[in-house]
Amino acid sequence: MSQDAKKRQVAEAAFDRIRDMLDTHTPIGIGTGSTTNHFIDVLGESGVQIAGAVASSEATRERLERIGIDVLDLNSTGTLSLYVDGADECDPRMNLIKGGGAALTREKIIAEASRFFLCIADDSKRVDVLGRFPLPLEVIPMARSLVGRKVVELGGDPAYRQGVVTDNGNIILDIHGLSIVDPKGLETAINQIPGVVTCGLFAHRAADTILLASDTGVVELTRD
Ligand code: 5RP
Repeated sequence: MSQDAKKRQVAEAAFDRIRDMLDTHTPIGIGTGSTTNHFIDVLGESGVQIAGAVASSEATRERLERIGIDVLDLNSTGTLSLYVDGADECDPRMNLIKGGGAALTREKIIAEASRFFLCIADDSKRVDVLGRFPLPLEVIPMARSLVGRKVVELGGDPAYRQGVVTDNGNIILDIHGLSIVDPKGLETAINQIPGVVTCGLFAHRAADTILLASDTGVVELTRD
Protein backbone atom coordinates (compact mmCIF):
# COMPACT_ATOMS: atom_id res chain seq x y z
CA MET A 1 0.00 0.00 0.00
CA SER A 2 1.32 3.47 -0.82
CA GLN A 3 2.11 5.93 1.95
CA ASP A 4 -0.70 8.17 0.75
CA ALA A 5 -3.17 5.26 0.86
CA LYS A 6 -2.11 4.62 4.47
CA LYS A 7 -2.69 8.29 5.28
CA ARG A 8 -6.20 8.08 3.89
CA GLN A 9 -6.79 4.83 5.75
CA VAL A 10 -5.74 6.31 9.10
CA ALA A 11 -7.82 9.43 8.45
CA GLU A 12 -10.91 7.23 7.99
CA ALA A 13 -10.06 5.29 11.16
CA ALA A 14 -9.65 8.56 13.05
CA PHE A 15 -13.06 9.73 11.91
CA ASP A 16 -14.63 6.45 13.13
CA ARG A 17 -12.73 6.77 16.41
CA ILE A 18 -13.98 10.28 17.22
CA ARG A 19 -17.36 10.25 15.47
CA ASP A 20 -19.16 10.21 18.83
CA MET A 21 -17.32 13.35 19.94
CA LEU A 22 -18.58 15.43 17.02
CA ASP A 23 -21.65 17.61 17.35
CA THR A 24 -22.83 21.11 16.58
CA HIS A 25 -21.88 22.43 20.03
CA THR A 26 -18.29 21.23 20.26
CA PRO A 27 -15.50 22.89 18.28
CA ILE A 28 -12.40 20.79 17.66
CA GLY A 29 -8.75 21.48 16.82
CA ILE A 30 -7.35 20.42 13.46
CA GLY A 31 -3.67 20.28 12.56
CA THR A 32 -1.63 20.58 9.40
CA GLY A 33 -0.15 18.26 6.79
CA SER A 34 -1.12 15.67 4.21
CA THR A 35 -2.51 13.17 6.75
CA THR A 36 -4.61 15.85 8.38
CA ASN A 37 -5.77 16.98 4.95
CA HIS A 38 -7.14 13.47 4.40
CA PHE A 39 -8.93 13.76 7.75
CA ILE A 40 -10.50 17.07 6.66
CA ASP A 41 -11.61 15.43 3.41
CA VAL A 42 -13.19 12.51 5.30
CA LEU A 43 -14.93 14.95 7.64
CA GLY A 44 -16.30 16.88 4.67
CA GLU A 45 -17.46 13.74 2.85
CA SER A 46 -19.23 12.50 5.99
CA GLY A 47 -21.65 15.42 6.03
CA VAL A 48 -21.39 15.53 9.83
CA GLN A 49 -21.92 19.07 11.11
CA ILE A 50 -19.55 20.44 13.75
CA ALA A 51 -19.52 23.69 15.67
CA GLY A 52 -16.34 24.77 13.92
CA ALA A 53 -12.63 24.18 14.18
CA VAL A 54 -9.48 25.89 15.36
CA ALA A 55 -6.89 25.54 12.59
CA SER A 56 -3.16 25.13 13.19
CA SER A 57 -2.20 26.90 9.96
CA GLU A 58 -3.48 29.16 7.23
CA ALA A 59 -3.36 26.19 4.84
CA THR A 60 -5.69 24.23 7.10
CA ARG A 61 -7.91 27.28 7.54
CA GLU A 62 -8.36 27.49 3.76
CA ARG A 63 -9.09 23.78 3.43
CA LEU A 64 -11.66 23.87 6.22
CA GLU A 65 -13.37 26.94 4.81
CA ARG A 66 -13.56 25.30 1.37
CA ILE A 67 -15.74 22.55 2.84
CA GLY A 68 -17.87 24.98 4.83
CA ILE A 69 -16.42 24.49 8.32
CA ASP A 70 -16.23 27.67 10.40
CA VAL A 71 -12.71 28.47 11.53
CA LEU A 72 -12.69 29.77 15.09
CA ASP A 73 -10.30 31.77 17.26
CA LEU A 74 -8.86 29.71 20.11
CA ASN A 75 -9.34 32.73 22.38
CA SER A 76 -13.09 32.42 21.95
CA THR A 77 -13.41 28.63 22.15
CA GLY A 78 -11.53 28.02 25.40
CA THR A 79 -10.43 24.45 26.09
CA LEU A 80 -11.07 22.09 23.18
CA SER A 81 -12.29 18.54 23.69
CA LEU A 82 -10.29 17.14 20.78
CA TYR A 83 -7.27 17.86 18.59
CA VAL A 84 -6.47 15.76 15.52
CA ASP A 85 -3.07 16.12 13.88
CA GLY A 86 -0.27 14.20 12.17
CA ALA A 87 3.39 13.82 13.12
CA ASP A 88 6.80 13.43 11.56
CA GLU A 89 7.94 10.89 14.15
CA CYS A 90 6.48 9.14 17.17
CA ASP A 91 8.16 7.00 19.83
CA PRO A 92 6.74 4.28 22.11
CA ARG A 93 6.07 6.85 24.87
CA MET A 94 3.82 8.88 22.51
CA ASN A 95 6.41 11.65 22.24
CA LEU A 96 6.38 13.30 18.84
CA ILE A 97 8.45 15.33 16.46
CA LYS A 98 6.28 17.76 14.52
CA GLY A 99 6.83 20.79 12.33
CA GLY A 100 7.67 19.27 8.97
CA GLY A 101 4.96 21.58 7.67
CA ALA A 102 6.32 24.56 9.66
CA ALA A 103 3.15 24.84 11.75
CA LEU A 104 4.67 23.57 15.02
CA THR A 105 3.96 26.59 17.22
CA ARG A 106 0.25 26.80 16.51
CA GLU A 107 0.11 23.00 16.69
CA LYS A 108 1.69 23.03 20.14
CA ILE A 109 -0.68 25.73 21.34
CA ILE A 110 -3.75 23.80 20.20
CA ALA A 111 -2.44 20.51 21.59
CA GLU A 112 -1.93 22.16 24.97
CA ALA A 113 -5.42 23.66 24.81
CA SER A 114 -7.04 20.28 24.11
CA ARG A 115 -8.16 17.56 26.49
CA PHE A 116 -7.56 14.76 23.98
CA PHE A 117 -4.83 14.78 21.34
CA LEU A 118 -5.34 12.13 18.67
CA CYS A 119 -2.27 11.75 16.47
CA ILE A 120 -2.67 10.09 13.07
CA ALA A 121 0.23 8.75 11.04
CA ASP A 122 1.49 5.95 8.86
CA ASP A 123 3.96 3.40 10.14
CA SER A 124 6.98 5.09 8.51
CA LYS A 125 6.76 7.64 11.35
CA ARG A 126 7.27 5.08 14.13
CA VAL A 127 10.79 5.03 15.68
CA ASP A 128 12.26 3.73 18.92
CA VAL A 129 14.27 6.92 19.55
CA LEU A 130 13.25 10.28 18.10
CA GLY A 131 15.73 12.21 15.98
CA ARG A 132 16.03 10.50 12.62
CA PHE A 133 13.69 13.22 11.32
CA PRO A 134 15.45 16.61 11.75
CA LEU A 135 13.91 18.47 14.68
CA PRO A 136 12.26 21.72 13.51
CA LEU A 137 12.59 24.91 15.56
CA GLU A 138 10.58 28.05 14.88
CA VAL A 139 13.00 30.93 15.42
CA ILE A 140 12.71 34.74 15.46
CA PRO A 141 14.69 35.79 12.35
CA MET A 142 17.28 37.99 14.17
CA ALA A 143 18.20 35.05 16.45
CA ARG A 144 19.01 32.59 13.64
CA SER A 145 22.80 32.54 14.16
CA LEU A 146 22.61 32.66 17.94
CA VAL A 147 20.18 29.76 18.07
CA GLY A 148 22.30 27.83 15.58
CA ARG A 149 25.39 28.17 17.79
CA LYS A 150 23.47 27.12 20.91
CA VAL A 151 22.09 24.09 19.12
CA VAL A 152 25.62 23.02 18.13
CA GLU A 153 26.55 23.17 21.86
CA LEU A 154 23.64 20.77 22.48
CA GLY A 155 25.09 18.34 19.91
CA GLY A 156 22.87 19.17 16.95
CA ASP A 157 23.60 20.24 13.40
CA PRO A 158 21.24 23.08 12.39
CA ALA A 159 20.09 23.71 8.82
CA TYR A 160 18.18 26.82 7.74
CA ARG A 161 14.98 25.81 5.91
CA GLN A 162 15.40 27.92 2.79
CA GLY A 163 12.49 29.99 1.57
CA VAL A 164 10.14 29.16 4.44
CA VAL A 165 8.42 31.83 6.50
CA THR A 166 6.00 30.53 9.12
CA ASP A 167 2.44 31.79 9.51
CA ASN A 168 3.84 33.79 12.44
CA GLY A 169 6.51 35.50 10.30
CA ASN A 170 9.46 33.49 11.60
CA ILE A 171 12.04 31.09 10.17
CA ILE A 172 12.62 27.36 10.65
CA LEU A 173 15.89 25.71 11.66
CA ASP A 174 15.95 21.92 11.21
CA ILE A 175 18.27 20.18 13.66
CA HIS A 176 20.01 17.10 12.29
CA GLY A 177 22.08 14.50 14.08
CA LEU A 178 20.14 14.25 17.35
CA SER A 179 19.37 11.03 19.17
CA ILE A 180 16.68 12.16 21.55
CA VAL A 181 16.85 9.87 24.57
CA ASP A 182 15.40 12.51 26.93
CA PRO A 183 12.64 14.23 24.94
CA LYS A 184 11.28 16.31 27.82
CA GLY A 185 14.75 17.47 28.88
CA LEU A 186 15.70 18.45 25.35
CA GLU A 187 12.37 20.19 24.75
CA THR A 188 12.94 22.27 27.89
CA ALA A 189 16.57 23.03 27.03
CA ILE A 190 15.83 24.16 23.48
CA ASN A 191 12.84 26.24 24.49
CA GLN A 192 15.10 28.12 26.94
CA ILE A 193 17.24 29.53 24.11
CA PRO A 194 16.30 33.18 23.51
CA GLY A 195 14.85 33.53 20.03
CA VAL A 196 13.34 30.04 19.89
CA VAL A 197 9.58 30.41 19.64
CA THR A 198 9.20 26.69 20.18
CA CYS A 199 10.74 23.41 19.12
CA GLY A 200 8.91 20.59 17.39
CA LEU A 201 9.30 18.16 20.26
CA PHE A 202 5.93 17.25 21.72
CA ALA A 203 7.01 15.55 24.95
CA HIS A 204 5.62 17.74 27.71
CA ARG A 205 2.34 17.56 25.79
CA ALA A 206 2.63 14.22 24.01
CA ALA A 207 -0.18 12.51 22.11
CA ASP A 208 -2.87 10.76 24.12
CA THR A 209 -3.56 8.21 21.42
CA ILE A 210 -1.80 7.45 18.15
CA LEU A 211 -3.50 5.72 15.25
CA LEU A 212 -0.87 4.18 13.01
CA ALA A 213 -1.62 2.79 9.56
CA SER A 214 0.32 -0.13 8.14
CA ASP A 215 -0.12 -2.65 5.35
CA THR A 216 -2.10 -4.85 7.72
CA GLY A 217 -4.46 -2.18 9.05
CA VAL A 218 -4.64 0.56 11.65
CA VAL A 219 -3.40 0.00 15.20
CA GLU A 220 -4.20 2.17 18.19
CA LEU A 221 -1.33 3.02 20.53
CA THR A 222 -1.80 4.40 24.01
CA ARG A 223 0.68 5.33 26.71
CA ASP A 224 1.99 2.38 28.77
C1 5RP B 1 3.13 20.06 10.26
C2 5RP B 1 3.26 18.77 10.99
C3 5RP B 1 2.67 17.55 10.33
O1 5RP B 1 1.78 16.97 11.20
C4 5RP B 1 3.78 16.61 9.99
O2 5RP B 1 4.73 17.28 9.20
C5 5RP B 1 3.26 15.37 9.27
O3 5RP B 1 2.87 15.72 7.99
P1 5RP B 1 2.26 14.67 6.98
O4 5RP B 1 0.93 14.27 7.50
O5 5RP B 1 2.18 15.44 5.67
O6 5RP B 1 3.21 13.50 6.87
O7 5RP B 1 3.79 18.67 12.06
O8 5RP B 1 3.83 21.09 10.92
